[in-house]
Amino acid sequence: MPQRTDFKGAAMIADEIETTAPLLFFDTGIGGLSVLKEAQKLLPVAPVIYAADYAGMPYGMKSEAELSTRIPLLLGRLVERYKPQLVTIACNTASTIALDVVRSVLDIPVVGTVPAIKPASLMTETGVIGLLGTPATIRQPYVDRLHSEFAADKKLLRFGAPELVHAAEAKLRGDLLDPAIIDLAVSGLLEQEYGKEIDTVILACTHFPLLQEELQKSFVRDIKFIDGSQGIARRIAYLTHDVTWPKSPENGVFVTTDRIEKLLPYRSKLEEFGLTRLEAL
Ligand code: DGL
Repeated sequence: MPQRTDFKGAAMIADEIETTAPLLFFDTGIGGLSVLKEAQKLLPVAPVIYAADYAGMPYGMKSEAELSTRIPLLLGRLVERYKPQLVTIACNTASTIALDVVRSVLDIPVVGTVPAIKPASLMTETGVIGLLGTPATIRQPYVDRLHSEFAADKKLLRFGAPELVHAAEAKLRGDLLDPAIIDLAVSGLLEQEYGKEIDTVILACTHFPLLQEELQKSFVRDIKFIDGSQGIARRIAYLTHDVTWPKSPENGVFVTTDRIEKLLPYRSKLEEFGLTRLEAL
C-alpha cells in the first residue's frame, strides 16, 4: 500500500498517488473467479493477478501436511514475482488449513475465504444448514470453531463433494455437465438425518457458486445459498480504501503452475474478468 510521506510542508498525499501494485487472488483453478467477480464490482479498475495452482489441484483430496507446506511456498514465490499489495486466498480448503501460516510468512495483508457459517446461521429458519465443501475443508477444526462460535444452536450437516470442483471447471470450459454429479452432492446432504429440513446451504468451496443454478435445480425446493464472496470483496475494499487506483483497468494476469496451453479452453471466460495475459509460474 502507498506510504504517506511529509516533506518540508509540501505534503505528498499518498491517496493521490496511483498504485499499480496488484491484488493477487489465489485458488487451485477457476473457483476464485467467484470471489474476483464480487471484488471487481467494488474495485473495477484494481490491477489483478489471478494465480491458479492447477499442478496441485485438487486441494480437497490432499493432506493437511502437504497443503500447509505447498501453499505458503507458492504464495511466497508469487508475492516475490508480482509484488501485490494484498493477497486473497480465494479457496476455502487453502484458507481453513494454511491461512495462519501464510499470514506469518508474508508481510502484506492476507484475506482468507472461510465457510459462511455466521451469515447462514442468521438466514436459516428451520435451524438446519447444509455445508458443501471439499473433503479437506469439511473436516477442519476451523469449521468446528465457526460452528460452535456462530451457529451452536443450529444443525450443520456437512458433505464433501470433490466432483463438483471438476464439474465447475468443465462448465467454465464450456463442456457439458453430468447432472448425476450434481444430484450426488445434493443427496449427500438430503439423505443425512435432518437433511430434509435444510433450508440454507453454504457453498464452502469457491468453485461451487459457479454451479448454484444446477444445485438449486437438483434440490427441487427453494434453498437459500450463501458463500463468502461478497464479504471478502467488502474486506478487500476496506483494506484498500486509501488506495488511488489507476484511471482505467490494465490487462489482468492469469498465472498457472501448470502448462499455459491447458488454459486455452478457459480463455474467453478469463477475458470477461479482464484476465488477458496468461503466464506460467
Ligand atoms: N476452490 C477450492 C476451495 O475453495 C477447492 C478446489 C480444489 O479442491 O482444488 O476449496
